[in-house]
Amino acid sequence: MSVYDEGVFQRGFGTFPLRGDELAGAVRSAIQIGYRAFDTAQWYGNEAELGAVLSEVKVPRDAFLVTTKVHPENMVAERFMPSVEQSLRDLRLDAIDVLLLHWPPGNDPIEPSLELLQKAHQLGHARHVGVSNYTTAMMRRAKAIMDVPLAANQVEFHPLLNQEKLLSASRETGIPLASYCSLARGEIFNYPVLKEIGTRHGKSAAQVALRWILQKGVTMNTMSTRPGNMAANFDVMDFTLDAKDMQAIDALTQANYRISNADVVSYAPTWD
Ligand SMILES: NC(=O)c1ccc[n+]([C@@H]2O[C@H](COP(=O)([O-])OP(=O)(O)OC[C@H]3O[C@@H](n4cnc5c(N)ncnc54)[C@H](OP(=O)(O)O)[C@@H]3O)[C@@H](O)[C@H]2O)c1
Repeated sequence: MSVYDEGVFQRGFGTFPLRGDELAGAVRSAIQIGYRAFDTAQWYGNEAELGAVLSEVKVPRDAFLVTTKVHPENMVAERFMPSVEQSLRDLRLDAIDVLLLHWPPGNDPIEPSLELLQKAHQLGHARHVGVSNYTTAMMRRAKAIMDVPLAANQVEFHPLLNQEKLLSASRETGIPLASYCSLARGEIFNYPVLKEIGTRHGKSAAQVALRWILQKGVTMNTMSTRPGNMAANFDVMDFTLDAKDMQAIDALTQANYRISNADVVSYAPTWD
């Protein structure tokens, strides 16, 4: 059970790479559709813009769950807390709902950044803390040294990537997984089986992929600039994939299609 399992927070709205009017328009549409969990990061450069939109809408501010992430370059003692304090000001929050470490700090040991994260929690800067892009070994190490429970390991998770090792580490450590690139940025649409399964349920291929993620016990993040797609991605709670559907989608994970490789993000660790 994670903070993301409460109510509508299972279905998060991601904000990368949105900025300016596009971000404001997308977030307003997402709120209207029903999204209450929003995902940003220091790296995205849009925390202040997100904070402004969330403050100006009629929905009470405490109805939202805002996740942000510390930039890997800020994971040193002199920059960590000032960067979190800047995020608080930009997001117009007294405490960040969920504060994640965005990436493991390159080849450096993970312990110092985890200690700083724990300090941010102790100082009341974050209600919940977690990590992102952690391997199974890092999850186990984090579990061993942290006094505060980790609310998430946010990782690339979609039907074209086998993440069974992370799922098993999640069960073992109690650190829940949350997804990004949940539609593999559109690559899933090249696999007709998702559409075929969707037709039987009156749902689209995207909705089937997202439902598969939720039924794996993983909470999801999606991003769209189109209200139609946002609404579809939110509308995934009224059907269930049976064991045969789940197995057919599991088979797609053999594609081993991964977006977050080291050639895309230099911080990417050696994945499991
Ligand atoms: N922790 C990390 O390191 C990390 C890394 C990457 C992303 N993230 C977070 O995760 C969020 C989601 O990931 P993502 O945006 O990279 O990948 P994604 O959700 O797999 O793909 C987003 C793309 O899919 C399209 N799309 C969305 N819904 C659709 C639908 N129902 N049908 C057809 N196309 C659809 C969108 O285009 P349209 O605008 O045309 O709908 C958009 O271009 C990000 O916004 C970010 O907040 C975190």
